[in-house]
Amino acid sequence: MSHSAQRLGVVAESTPGETRVAATPATVPQLVSLGYEVIVESGAGRRSGFTDDAYATAGARIAGREETWDADVVLKVNAPSADEIAALHDGSTLVSLIGPAADADLVDALARRPITVLAMDAVPRVSRAQSLDVLSSMANIAGYRAVIEAAHAFGRFFTGQVTAAGKVPPAKVLVAGAGVAGLAAVATATSLGAVVRATDPRPEVAEQVRSLGAEFLDVGVAQAASTDGYARETSRDYDRRAAEMYAEQAADVDIVVTTALIPGRPAPRLLTAGHVARMRPGSVIVDMAAAQGGNVEGTRPGEAVVTENGVTIIGYTDLAGRLPAQASQLYGTNVVNLMKLLTPGEDGRLVLDFDDVVQRAMTVVRDGEKTWPPPPVPVSAAPTAPAGSAASAPVRETAAAPAGRPPSPPGRRRHLVTAAVAVALFLLTAFSPNALIEHVTVFVLSIVIGYYVIGNVHHALHTPLMSITNAISGIIVVGALLQIGQGGAVVAVLSFVAILLASINIVGGFAVTRRMLGMFTRS
Ligand code: NAI
Repeated sequence: MSHSAQRLGVVAESTPGETRVAATPATVPQLVSLGYEVIVESGAGRRSGFTDDAYATAGARIAGREETWDADVVLKVNAPSADEIAALHDGSTLVSLIGPAADADLVDALARRPITVLAMDAVPRVSRAQSLDVLSSMANIAGYRAVIEAAHAFGRFFTGQVTAAGKVPPAKVLVAGAGVAGLAAVATATSLGAVVRATDPRPEVAEQVRSLGAEFLDVGVAQAASTDGYARETSRDYDRRAAEMYAEQAADVDIVVTTALIPGRPAPRLLTAGHVARMRPGSVIVDMAAAQGGNVEGTRPGEAVVTENGVTIIGYTDLAGRLPAQASQLYGTNVVNLMKLLTPGEDGRLVLDFDDVVQRAMTVVRDGEKTWPPPPVPVSAAPTAPAGSAASAPVRETAAAPAGRPPSPPGRRRHLVTAAVAVALFLLTAFSPNALIEHVTVFVLSIVIGYYVIGNVHHALHTPLMSITNAISGIIVVGALLQIGQGGAVVAVLSFVAILLASINIVGGFAVTRRMLGMFTRS
């Protein structure tokens, strides 16, 4: 059966102040290659710096508002207005931010039309769906921009300098909440040369914070590790200790960026007016959670205010949109990745598969039938809690442990293992020939040395390190070359196989390293 390609309509945003657009001249060709006809509303990309001509060159057709809204699939950034919902044609699909959890009336209004609606902000946080996750891509941009806004409002350098005119100390930055936005803020502030600290109740992010070159401030009250990539509410004990820490930090740091968020709840209050009053004049706070009620007392959403003691509190809620071309590019790429998922035949036909948890989770309305909220997504990759933090894990999880004899405490088990290893070593040395003991000694020593050497190499250098260690298997090549002509056919075959495998190991290691180093060189 032959059919014509469906039309994708990229509409202009009507929300005041919105700068973004759902497709760019770079993403249009990708949508076209999926078999769709792409229509862009005239002027849709203007505020992101993309002209109609650029879209036309990329393969789109430029059209008026009515024709674009009449497309089979409408691509958009913000949730639609009532007029816009009415402009969709029966049987069409709308892809946009919806905020279904926060706006039940909107979901009902959408479900009154015989349409299908996919919420870009309802992508589950599973690794497979990362390429469609607009909340992450926007939070990443917003975290970067938060630091740029702070640097703009701060009257000093971020980086320390020794100049002829005197010594300048580096700025001190505290990032509260090390999720996507927080880690982006940490990375940006460290790259500007500031001394950066970050804190978060999820213990598993400490390593990520450190790998970005910042210090992790541990509140010292164990919280359960996250099971879905999002935090749970913190305990009262945690909040009390955190408040003490913020009081100490407020007197010390120049910049605070707060990003704390617990899904479905108002933003947790981290800094009180008392904390803000302790900060030095000229300090800057960026409260990224301003739209959810703010992490900081005194934040006004959408505004920058200066307190009596001269601290600027920035509560902009459009941080990602302040980098319009970048935000549109990442949003557009997330949309392309969604369309790839929805177009398995690459034939310009959208096929919605409800057996796929990602597609199911994003679908708010299907053919006029409300499908929100979706069933919970089983999470595959919950990070394991480091030892010691399990103390406060919810009862539900610990109850799953097998009943019966309680597990022996970790300390006792460790002693038993050590004793068993000692006995085994004693028996080995007492009853084996001298040569074996020598080999075992070398083996054990190399394990110990290797453990400490490799353990102290920075994560980023593990790949090159591995390729160098791979090259050690060159000794196998030498051994096999010496053997290859010396014995019968079996020895020759074994030597040949050894040379082959060792060579693959060596060459492969260097090839991977080369590829990795290539990522750091500018073309
Ligand atoms: P996320 O869920 O990845 O990160 C939030 C982090 O806050 C988590 O790591 C969580 O553990 C942490 N947290 C929770 N309770 C805390 C507490 N009591 N103390 C310290 N940390 C705590 O969320 P994401 O995507 O990074 O977003 C962060 C915030 O930025 C959200 O409020 C989001 O709405 C906002 N945002 C603001 C924008 C703007 O223009 N202002 C644009 C994009 C995002």
